[in-house]
Amino acid sequence: MSVLRFDNVSKQYPGGHAALSDVSFEVADGEMLFVTGHSGAGKSTLLKLIHLSERPSRGAVLLAERNLAKVRGRRVALHRRDVGVVFQDHRLLTDRSVFDNIALPLILRGMKRGEIGRRVRSMLERLGLGERERALPTQLSAGEQQRVGIARAVVSEPRLLVADEPTGNLDPTLSAEIMALFASLPERGTSVLVASHDLGLVKRMKKRVLVLDHGVLADDIPPEDLADE
Ligand SMILES: Nc1ncnc2c1ncn2[C@@H]1O[C@H](COP(=O)(O)OP(=O)(O)OP(=O)(O)O)[C@@H](O)[C@H]1O
Ligand SMILES: [Mg+2]
Repeated sequence: MSVLRFDNVSKQYPGGHAALSDVSFEVADGEMLFVTGHSGAGKSTLLKLIHLSERPSRGAVLLAERNLAKVRGRRVALHRRDVGVVFQDHRLLTDRSVFDNIALPLILRGMKRGEIGRRVRSMLERLGLGERERALPTQLSAGEQQRVGIARAVVSEPRLLVADEPTGNLDPTLSAEIMALFASLPERGTSVLVASHDLGLVKRMKKRVLVLDHGVLADDIPPEDLADE
């Protein structure tokens, strides 16, 4: 069963050149992989087509065999419950506490308050934010804000997690911890797709790597082909 499939997907922004050209790949259920490439290669665009903040110009994107072209209007919000997103700029609600930001996807699912509290606090502990649940996002460091964004994307155990440069603001130790957290998600039923231009980090993880070059899928490297450093 595939959790995600791109079938000959191209994306042209209005007035722009091709951000993605004829990209095809498939992600198996329970897989973790990376997408890498130079700045402007199309990594963020590829992720945006999955959480529907952009639409392909040609081709189809399928989530669990469902063509996302059919997901429109009110269904977009439902779709986003199946896809956790870590944004390049974490987009936290600035007037809500850390706890509330992370609880939001669970509230939207109609989960009971007791269960929400348990899940959010366990997430905060795992990300080393246990002391910060009452803080506002503006009172946090960039790395702490990024971890709150990660907690919010992961807490509802989505079918697929897409993360855009999730370790951009983190030091190497924290980056490694976040990657270990991501790597633990597939066994809980969440597949993971991470965009990163941090090649060292990507290689260390020994996962499949998609390489974009000017919008073209230039390589699809299986984990066993990643040389040891
Ligand atoms: N909203 C937009 N309108 C027009 N062009 C865009 C838009 N968003 C991205 N592009 C262009 O599409 C191409 C791919 O951009 P994208 O953001 O996907 O690259 P990226 O690989 O994520 O880069 P980075 O590593 O810098 O985040 C670039 O040439 C960019 O200028
Ligand atoms: Mg980007």
